Amino acid sequence: MVSWEGAGAFLDLEEVPLTDRGSRLLVFKNDDGGAGRPGAGRAGLRVAGAVYERSPDTSTHLHRIAVFDGAGRPLEATAVVPEGITFGDSAASLVLVGSDALSIGALAEPVVVLLEPFGTSADGRPVSEVDGAGISWRATDGTVPAADPVSGDTGPAGPGAVRLLLPPGGSLLLRIGGAVDQAPEPGGHAALLAAAASRWTDWFARLPAVRGTDLELVRYAWWILASNIVQLDTHPGIDAVVPSKQGYVAAWQWDSYFISIGLRHGDAELAADQLRLFFAEQTPDGGLPDVVHDHGTLACVADMPPGDVATLARIHGADSPMVTQADMPITKPPLAAWAARAVDAVAGTSLQSELKDGLDRLHEWWFARPTPDGLPGYEHVYSSGLDDSPLFDDGGPVFAPDLPSYLVVALDAMADLAEDAGDGATAARHRALADTTAAQLVEKRFDAELGRFVALTPAGRRTTVTPFGLMPLLTGRLPEPVKAALAARLADPSCLSAPFPLPTVGLSEPEFNQDRMWRGPVWLNVNWLIVQGLLRSGLEAEAAALAERTVAMVVASGGIHEYWNPLTGARAAGATTGFGWSAALFLDLAVWLAATDAGR
Ligand code: GLC
Repeated sequence: MVSWEGAGAFLDLEEVPLTDRGSRLLVFKNDDGGAGRPGAGRAGLRVAGAVYERSPDTSTHLHRIAVFDGAGRPLEATAVVPEGITFGDSAASLVLVGSDALSIGALAEPVVVLLEPFGTSADGRPVSEVDGAGISWRATDGTVPAADPVSGDTGPAGPGAVRLLLPPGGSLLLRIGGAVDQAPEPGGHAALLAAAASRWTDWFARLPAVRGTDLELVRYAWWILASNIVQLDTHPGIDAVVPSKQGYVAAWQWDSYFISIGLRHGDAELAADQLRLFFAEQTPDGGLPDVVHDHGTLACVADMPPGDVATLARIHGADSPMVTQADMPITKPPLAAWAARAVDAVAGTSLQSELKDGLDRLHEWWFARPTPDGLPGYEHVYSSGLDDSPLFDDGGPVFAPDLPSYLVVALDAMADLAEDAGDGATAARHRALADTTAAQLVEKRFDAELGRFVALTPAGRRTTVTPFGLMPLLTGRLPEPVKAALAARLADPSCLSAPFPLPTVGLSEPEFNQDRMWRGPVWLNVNWLIVQGLLRSGLEAEAAALAERTVAMVVASGGIHEYWNPLTGARAAGATTGFGWSAALFLDLAVWLAATDAGR
């Protein structure tokens, strides 16, 4: 069962658990990292759940699944590939099934499987840490597995633990939540394993062409994009690619746009669905929610989960309108039109015209928000996507230079669509608003003396250097001196040209912190956006150089993290890994560099 060369290097079951498309199960080594879980340190695997707003450390289904040979000797996990795990010398294997089940099968010799659930209910049945969901099992072929008569040396185990004997060819289907139905899986364990292998083979066959140096990480990125698929309870018919199954188990609006940019290279429909999901949740006034999750959406302050309320109250004060004003909308930057057009350009879809009305309403919504001078801003910090950025250190609203830049790109995309359809009047209307917005951006946010774009905050002007001040490059309409000033800032090694660019706060700024989220670390969406901005402003050499440095940093770091330390190029402290938009945009840059290389 090997469909992916080099898989084991990434699927370490420590940082990167085994999961599969659609599965809510995460399979880790049984190492508790000091958490003091029962059974920790003994042979076996821990199974946790992928749950919205919950770390896998607190969503344990089973403390331990361990496999032993007939003599009671533990069989270690010897190979981990996308379709499953092999134990010992192929004595047994594990494959994930559907959203909440897994199957374990014995091959030629009998094996003993130890199942140690998180706990037991009042009436003694095994349950998970997640909502006390029941855990049940049966033989995969529909029979009832026999309890292990030997028990041997399989070690001590907590309440509710059982040992089951699997004869040669025997297998076990285990399900979290709901009862395991007694209908046999057609073809049993072997068929489940073969189906998983063939799904992954098909997926890797869609991998776009990249350079040899980038291939290993691109394969891993491509795996992340499929393995991060879940079906949200609110949209069971859509495969949503989530940022991460560890904590970020929902669709976030701008994550979905970036993710679609990567998916467009191999799965047009999956790419398109990431946008459709959000437009299915468009509010009557035209806004889009920040998050679509299992229980609804996060579209305004009243929807915020308790953890976010606590964090924002700590940073901005419990009386901040960003905490107290229940109806304040929470969204994400308006990159939908651009993403739709980008998906269409590569995948041959007609997503932008499909979503046209919703896109127009979205743009009107943004221009209708309160503004001091005609240029829209972010009322809530989460709407910017930059949770702890110093741009919001004085609270909200913040009128930063990135938002009008994104809107110019969006309006250009709508104008292009109208031109495609031969509708010159509509095209001219969109283009005119784009022109005005770009001109106002320079007039009202560019400080010629400082040579940089600034943000308006409740405390006045914020001049902190961040790459968001370079986003006006996206308009493709900057006067030469302004463009030159931004190019100089980008090239300044004391500020934005860090050893590993781009830091999200300039190195020389007092707010710079190499590890704290949006206060210094490198985020691939920022680098990707600036690469596009440089291209739209005709700075091709600078765009290619930044793309090269970005891709090289990811390859050298050996992982697809949430964000990177700009001084060392390693994963920043606190960043999660296996992160959706990093995978998608790394892949997109690698594909672009391969194409430009080939074109030389
Ligand atoms: C964090 C980021 C935000 C992102 C979300 C999901 O909150 O700051 O930009 O959308 O995580 O990945």
